[in-house]
Amino acid sequence: MTEQEIYKGLAGVPVDYSAISKVNPETNSLLYRGYPVQELAGQKSFEEVALLLWGGELPSEDELAAFVTQERAGRALAGNVRAVIDALPTSAHPMDVVRTAVSVIGANDPDAEDPSPEAELAKAKALFAALPAIVAYDQRRRHGLELVEPRDDLDYSQNFLWMTFGEEAAPEVVDAFRVSMVLYAEHSFNASTFTARVITSTTADLYSAVVGAIGALKGALHGGANEAVMHTFDEIGEAANVEAWLDDALASKKKIMGFGHRVYKNGDSRVPTMHAALERLVEHYDRHDLLELSEVLQKSFGERKGIKPNLDYPAGPVYHLMGFDTLTFTPLFAAARITGWTAHIMEQAAANSLIRPLAVYNGVDERHLEG
Ligand code: COA
Repeated sequence: MTEQEIYKGLAGVPVDYSAISKVNPETNSLLYRGYPVQELAGQKSFEEVALLLWGGELPSEDELAAFVTQERAGRALAGNVRAVIDALPTSAHPMDVVRTAVSVIGANDPDAEDPSPEAELAKAKALFAALPAIVAYDQRRRHGLELVEPRDDLDYSQNFLWMTFGEEAAPEVVDAFRVSMVLYAEHSFNASTFTARVITSTTADLYSAVVGAIGALKGALHGGANEAVMHTFDEIGEAANVEAWLDDALASKKKIMGFGHRVYKNGDSRVPTMHAALERLVEHYDRHDLLELSEVLQKSFGERKGIKPNLDYPAGPVYHLMGFDTLTFTPLFAAARITGWTAHIMEQAAANSLIRPLAVYNGVDERHLEG
């Protein structure tokens, strides 16, 4: 029998077409619907980027205004979503809280099973508007703080920070937050997006696909890495400790979180833009120690192993400086990626084929029960 080739982890295997984003590892570039992500992060709101990902084009002024009105009207937590969150222990991982809350939102939606493109887009927009309240409230309740109601005079990023911290954030902070949302929004067939597409391919509803994607994002090899980066920084403490920490980590063959990427082998296209936002925040909060630690670890690990940072590396300290709990970092990624996930769910549904690969059996040979 000839050995069948196995594509472990589906590495390097194209499984479908997608017109949503293009990741080009040769040129270190990432395009959303044709636009370089750096240009979008420099000039566009997260709301505009969401509409671009869903619809394929940047919105007109009227389209944007209509969406902004709708988004602001959909920010408050539904009563039973809040009640379910309150019923969960504060020790629950925030990704579990987000996953559970999205399930409840799905159960509330009378159109959950309507697969028409209009209904799917409406669900995507509703989740986009609802996620900040879930993430913000969960962080607050862990600190014993009351829910902060949304404000419809604030944009998405301003309101997200308002609902989390109960005060208006400085413009530099709002801008760094917006940049992070734009950069996290979409990244082709990553593990969570692919999970969402697999679920959609069975014709299950959009909420089930998003819940599955949230589960996939939680892992430290995927979205959980931004959280893990901060744990690493906490463990190292200060720049002077980097070399000794790295000696130990490499000796014990530990993976250094926030470094490496399945697709980019020569640097993640999103890192320079996020790193620039980190530098601005470091100035704002006067936390040069954190930047120094980050740069020393990046340089030293790069020199020793030649592995470059991914987006989670600068994003972790960005969220930390803003005041988010480390545990809240991956839910922030989910709030951004809801745009990419739902765009892919709609794309999958529009040209569907059940995703069902093969396994090469390597268990025991056929055998029989006695008697
Ligand atoms: N720290 C230490 N070594 C790493 C590494 C890291 N972060 N990332 C890759 N490597 C090493 C592996 O140990 C392996 O070495 P080996 O060939 O000597 O065994 C080699 O580089 C290839 O890595 P591998 O894990 O097989 O590549 P992959 O394409 O499957 O992995 C990731 C990609 C993202 C899973 C991997 O780089 C990783 O685990 N990174 C840390 C988690 C992270 O930041 N995830 C966020 C991704 S956006």
